[in-house]
Amino acid sequence: MKLAAIETPRSRQEELGQFLTAAPVADFMASMFGPLPRTVRLLDAGAGAGSLTSAFVSRCCESRDDVRIIEATLYELDGEILDTLAETMRECEQRCAEANIRFTFTIHAADFIQEMSARLAGDLFDTYPPTFDAAIVNPPYRKIGIDSAERRALRSIGVETSNLYTGFIALIQRLLVPGGQMVGITPRSFCNGPYFRPFREDFLMHLELRRLHVFESRQAAFRNDSVLQENIIFHAVKGWNQPAELTISSSSGEPGDAITETVFPFTEIVHPRDPEKFIHIPSAASHATAKETMDGLRTSLASLGLTISTGRVVDFRLKDALRKEPGRDTVPLLYPCHFNGGTVHWPKSDARKPNAILDNDQPRPWLVPSGVYLLTKRFTSKEERRRLVACLFDPDEVKAEWVGFENHLNYFHVSGHGLERTLALGLFAFLNSTGVDQYFRRFSGHTQVNATDLRTLAYPDRDTLEAMGHEVKSFDLSQDEIDQLVTKHLHACR
Ligand SMILES: C[S@@+](CC[C@H](N)C(=O)[O-])C[C@H]1O[C@@H](n2cnc3c(N)ncnc32)[C@H](O)[C@@H]1O
Repeated sequence: MKLAAIETPRSRQEELGQFLTAAPVADFMASMFGPLPRTVRLLDAGAGAGSLTSAFVSRCCESRDDVRIIEATLYELDGEILDTLAETMRECEQRCAEANIRFTFTIHAADFIQEMSARLAGDLFDTYPPTFDAAIVNPPYRKIGIDSAERRALRSIGVETSNLYTGFIALIQRLLVPGGQMVGITPRSFCNGPYFRPFREDFLMHLELRRLHVFESRQAAFRNDSVLQENIIFHAVKGWNQPAELTISSSSGEPGDAITETVFPFTEIVHPRDPEKFIHIPSAASHATAKETMDGLRTSLASLGLTISTGRVVDFRLKDALRKEPGRDTVPLLYPCHFNGGTVHWPKSDARKPNAILDNDQPRPWLVPSGVYLLTKRFTSKEERRRLVACLFDPDEVKAEWVGFENHLNYFHVSGHGLERTLALGLFAFLNSTGVDQYFRRFSGHTQVNATDLRTLAYPDRDTLEAMGHEVKSFDLSQDEIDQLVTKHLHACR
């Protein structure tokens, strides 16, 4: 079926979080549902032009499941898209009639978050929340501020979350009957973002994951939209027992493209003892490399006596103290732009960032005493080959008593002081290895590396890290050389 072209201005599109699903992706999502009951009460929240319900209807009309009645409930806030939505629903009605399925639909031109939160909280006199057997959803994505109306509405039913999309999913979960199914396409950020931890707990407690699908390209899933997030599709069932195994599939997102599927033990997707409940999403090839590096590692950062923190210099808050060039009254200030092939190049005269920060004997809560520190970038551009980039800060190269690390980088330290050099060099090799990068990509869909991610990683023991460190004689090692060095020592310690 062809949907009429929708032209929504960019600013309004962003406000509404409106990114419409391309038909092949919608069909693929509909194909992910398991067996359906004869009567399906279907929810399509944030329905847009109705492509998801339309794809669901097509699946049912192919009579794979013996569905006889579809009662569709659709929520859509954008008044300008409602005519197209109604038209799509009439086409669905017609196709269902031809397939001998009774199709009814109700379009609510209302705010799904406000209405369902109120109904679930029991605030609306005499109206009970509806229940659904199936939900298909591409929810709107937009951050919701701590005091926004959406946040307050969600909080009233015990949902604390910072994005519209997780708010939608949390509400839909509550509206499903036990055994009810949801197929959703969302950004991958909820899988490991620290702010999404309460959402992940809620999600994994009440929904059994049945399948996850990842796209190899960021933009594959959406028509003409520059969607910067990586997306995943999940199929989940309302219930309380996660499966022993989970199928992860991936494709490029191009129509007709081959889909690769791999089955993983569920304990490799969500580690049973992980308090953060990260959802790891391996792909077949990277899985092998990551597994080879990480298997059997048990040492925590804390047991190595190390801590990781985010750089304390938040530059826009300390504007008056920043200096382009170092002077007698300043100390070095390090940004990611000072990273230079494994070590630090400072000062950088052509840098757009300041090189120094004033040190005027005030308390120095944002400075650290000079020493050997291992630094990692918090953000990498999506063109960069690696997500995890580690470099060594060497006090012999940058002479100073104190040093400032800017907020766009993380630094490993020992109670606020530098590390022993060999250990730092071992960590340098380990973190820059392909296996750790691949491992990291399994659960991080975006380009940010949070201190929490590195804090919860498992590391080789101290002896192994030091043995690696002894062998790092220069910083211009190729990726192959780093990988060989790390693999050799990990094999030796197993
Ligand atoms: C990401 S789009 C997806 C549209 C459609 N489901 C699809 O897949 O093509 C999300 C839709 O949710 C709508 N929307 C945004 N906020 C909403 C709200 N609070 N209640 C209901 N709909 C909302 C937007 O107007 C937009 O059409």
